[in-house]
Amino acid sequence: MIELNRTISSLTPSKSVTLMEKTKAMQKVDSSIINLTGGEPDFPTPAPICEEAYRQMMAGYTHYIDGPGIMELREALAKKLQEENGAFYTPDQIFVTPGGKFAVYLAVQSVMNPGDEAIWLTPGWVSYPSIIESSGGIPVAVHLKWDEDYRITYEALAEATTEKTKLLIINYPNNPTGKVLSETDREALARYMRDYPNVVLISDEIYEHIVYDDHKVVSMASYKDIADRVIVVNGFSKSYAMTGWRLGYMACSDAIFKVAKKLFQHTMSCTSGFLQKAALVALECKEEMEQMRQSYDRRGQILYEGLNQLKGVEMKKPEGAFYAWVKFDLGMDSQQTCEYLLEQAKISGVPGIAYGEEDKVCVRYSFASSEECLYNMIENLTALLGKK
Ligand SMILES: Cc1ncc(COP(=O)(O)O)c(C=O)c1O
Repeated sequence: MIELNRTISSLTPSKSVTLMEKTKAMQKVDSSIINLTGGEPDFPTPAPICEEAYRQMMAGYTHYIDGPGIMELREALAKKLQEENGAFYTPDQIFVTPGGKFAVYLAVQSVMNPGDEAIWLTPGWVSYPSIIESSGGIPVAVHLKWDEDYRITYEALAEATTEKTKLLIINYPNNPTGKVLSETDREALARYMRDYPNVVLISDEIYEHIVYDDHKVVSMASYKDIADRVIVVNGFSKSYAMTGWRLGYMACSDAIFKVAKKLFQHTMSCTSGFLQKAALVALECKEEMEQMRQSYDRRGQILYEGLNQLKGVEMKKPEGAFYAWVKFDLGMDSQQTCEYLLEQAKISGVPGIAYGEEDKVCVRYSFASSEECLYNMIENLTALLGKK
């Protein structure tokens, strides 16, 4: 038997992707199953973006292009980062990638050496620990708590830090909790970054445009004294309903860019040019983006009001992203709760354990789904659990 790559073989498969596939297969047999597992907008990509991709393809813009991306897009992204995020990166420090996930991968691979440690905050996106492990690094979880409203503290970060700590990964608005960085969180992060000058911060801002009420998204890259160690990761998937296009980007220092470019040249070569031309149009689709945001806002409200009326159920008010983070007090852990609710109420969500949740009581439901689905979910759960 040939021994295959030990590091990659030992990675845990993505629980959310696995569950999404499993639920889709189950829906083929039982169409009444409500699938709220996927982190995917249910809207079509706005027409002007598709039209531009088609136009560029027909015009023959279908060959290799410059590895880090077309200059017009990198210039537009530099302008966007400056105007919207107060983050100053030159176009030469911006890398267009096939999806935000690859941007995270590229950033992690460029920074980590085998044996280095990378801190990630839980509950957090399922792919961070696996991407860290794929670089030979060691993921170190800092557990944020429901009862503390998932606030970040300097002390918790400092306690998790050793001389091997190389990276801290954050994601706000957060998948799965829907939290946005508060001013106190930002101050804790900035203080930490100042005190630990050998740590690089990856700030995954992929949900930045999906934010509710008066919550404001502020990038850690706008803190000038630490900005040269902040890698901003972002993408088009969530804000513009472009998940299948595979378009993301990262912005980083010259030194990190230089290393990332080597890996990119030998793996991806480039991200499709006609897609990048269409991404330029996406950046102008502010109205379409706002309409989608308003829909998510309404849907989040529906779940927030509906689920909080149920016995043994508590949902945090989403501040951003499109996930309901729901705590169940049914005498089971989150994995068992998910199985029980799928069996008894035909609702499929992702257990908190997939996000490294320490308390093991929460389930994530995506509300990037129709209002009808969400009302059906509430109806099924009301029948099963009853009202408070
Ligand atoms: C927190 C977070 N970061 C990054 C991504 C990657 O998105 P994409 O690769 O589609 O750009 C996702 C997708 O689910 C996500 O939830």
